[in-house]
Amino acid sequence: MLYKPPINETPANQPVQFGFETVSHNQKSKKVDQVFNDVTPYYDWMNNLMSLGMHHQWKRQLIDSLAISPSDCVLDLATGTGDIAYNIHCITESNGYLVCLDINQNMLSSARDKLLNLGVSDKIHYLQADAQAIPVANESFDTVTMAFGLRNTTDIRLTLAECLRVLKPGGKLGVLEFSHPDNDRIKYLYHQYLLSVLPQLGHIAAGDRKSYQYLAESIIQHPTAIELKRQMITVGFNLVEIIPILSGTVAIHLGYKSYV
Ligand SMILES: C[S@@+](CC[C@H](N)C(=O)[O-])C[C@H]1O[C@@H](n2cnc3c(N)ncnc32)[C@H](O)[C@@H]1O
Repeated sequence: MLYKPPINETPANQPVQFGFETVSHNQKSKKVDQVFNDVTPYYDWMNNLMSLGMHHQWKRQLIDSLAISPSDCVLDLATGTGDIAYNIHCITESNGYLVCLDINQNMLSSARDKLLNLGVSDKIHYLQADAQAIPVANESFDTVTMAFGLRNTTDIRLTLAECLRVLKPGGKLGVLEFSHPDNDRIKYLYHQYLLSVLPQLGHIAAGDRKSYQYLAESIIQHPTAIELKRQMITVGFNLVEIIPILSGTVAIHLGYKSYV
């Protein structure tokens, strides 16, 4: 009853899921944009509350698993308020190049302000764009990251294909996303938390039940780790590796672009 099967493919003329609601591609983009416009002022505070601060550790684990080199060109997709960007910048600040991309102007401004306050923004480039149509040339980046952004895109396979296109041969993609525990009991408790506690937390702490209801539903609708791995392989990634976190409630997917 709590579990709905993940969406496997979303051809442009097919409806897609916005949480549990079935909508057109266009409607989903608008609704996702509205969610992030609404949550921007509370985004960091709510992330800390909902994950009890653990999201910082998961984000550092993503960066560590990618072994980014100081001279790398890195693209952070769905950059949000810039947590991943900050971690990358700490590695690439002297020799590398970092581009932060987000479709939402408010979130991108929030990232810029936060990084400016941390005194690190002068060498970071900001790009307001859709991760499904990245406005950069083929083979531009050594590493692409995307944390908690993939399930918000309308077409996961298209986003993954864009990641592959902009990576240099030998480059790597790291995706950090919510996922699905294998253990049925943990899955049941997790879904209870998502559907009962999360919207209530959103209501009490941010005065916004609706956005956090979407957040919960979008996590449940997101493909399993194995299914996402299959999609990465289907678009052309090699050596795709899954790193489960917190009993599989969160997962890192790593994939490489081959040299040929
Ligand atoms: C849950 S936030 C994640 C932010 C940040 N990466 C983090 O881990 O804290 C999702 C972000 O994805 C962005 N987003 C949603 N759809 C997008 C798309 N199609 N292209 C680029 N960014 C998108 C939203 O604007 C939002 O800033």
